[in-house]
Amino acid sequence: MRRLFPQPTPPEVAAPSVSPAGPGEGAAPSVRPGPSGPPWPLEELADAYAYPASAAPDAPGGPTPWLRGNMVSSLDGAAHHGGRSQPLSSDADMRVFGVLRALADAVVVGAETVRQEGYRPARARAAFAARRRAAGQGPAPAIAVVSAGLDLDFSLPLFTEPLVPTLVLTGAAAPADRQAAARAAGAVVVHAGEGTGVDPARVPGLLAEHGHTRLLTEGGPRLLGQFAAAGVLDELCLTLSPRITVGNASRITDGPGLAAPAEYALVSLVEEDGFLFTRYRRAGAVPPG
Ligand SMILES: NC(=O)c1ccc[n+]([C@@H]2O[C@H](COP(=O)([O-])OP(=O)(O)OC[C@H]3O[C@@H](n4cnc5c(N)ncnc54)[C@H](OP(=O)(O)O)[C@@H]3O)[C@@H](O)[C@H]2O)c1
Repeated sequence: MRRLFPQPTPPEVAAPSVSPAGPGEGAAPSVRPGPSGPPWPLEELADAYAYPASAAPDAPGGPTPWLRGNMVSSLDGAAHHGGRSQPLSSDADMRVFGVLRALADAVVVGAETVRQEGYRPARARAAFAARRRAAGQGPAPAIAVVSAGLDLDFSLPLFTEPLVPTLVLTGAAAPADRQAAARAAGAVVVHAGEGTGVDPARVPGLLAEHGHTRLLTEGGPRLLGQFAAAGVLDELCLTLSPRITVGNASRITDGPGLAAPAEYALVSLVEEDGFLFTRYRRAGAVPPG
């Protein structure tokens, strides 16, 4: 894995070399081409993706929730292939995915992704146990499922066997019997809207009331589109996969277009095996401290 942006410090940068064609006939590359190098240690990756201090429980004046998205896209913009994101992914992508989960208090996910990808509870990982303890976090992030219809199988381990209770974010008018089934399975039902649906703008604040301020959303596209449209997507970690799928899969966001595109600024860019790991921050979002 190698960092492409911000510019690596001198020891990581290749010494200026003379072009094989001779001096003056081609600029020396600023970054060494070729293999991406070994994977970064998990600790280093976790440091690189740390949440802003303002989202930590001990932030002066209290924590401010920070919502980060993590998605993978094919070169031609597909967010899945055959209904799964795995065909677009790689070992490095799964490593970043795991690190982002390990840093989060809660993972917010749309019900269709839960159904399509067979979501399970997040697991506790020994490699992150000390870091999570020091950050005032439980052993694993809570999963927060966003649903209006609540057509979810509440007998699944996601609801019955999590290390920390799974949250179900829904509207107050969502089917009462399904809300009861969610509670009976052990889930915490949170109303984030007056009708059947969830108001995406209310999600970070409501999760903060449950002690979750370092937030990660793993989509899917319809949910991510609503967070972006509501102006609450603080950061996007987008993996660009060196694959082309063609087909008609949705992009990483799906929904009505914004009146004007929302601006994001590049924070970092890392490469491994042709996969680009980008990290963008919403213009105007509080910078990490
Ligand atoms: N490329 C990636 O990184 C990535 C990441 C995640 C998922 N995916 C792929 O994306 C596909 C699924 O994505 P998707 O866009 O179809 O679905 P999604 O966003 O995962 O889930 C949509 C569902 O979430 C619930 N929902 C969304 N907004 C809501 C709101 N405001 N209020 C209440 N409920 C709300 C609804 O559930 P109910 O129907 O239960 O009411 C809705 O049907 C899968 O194929 C998956 O593989 C790709």
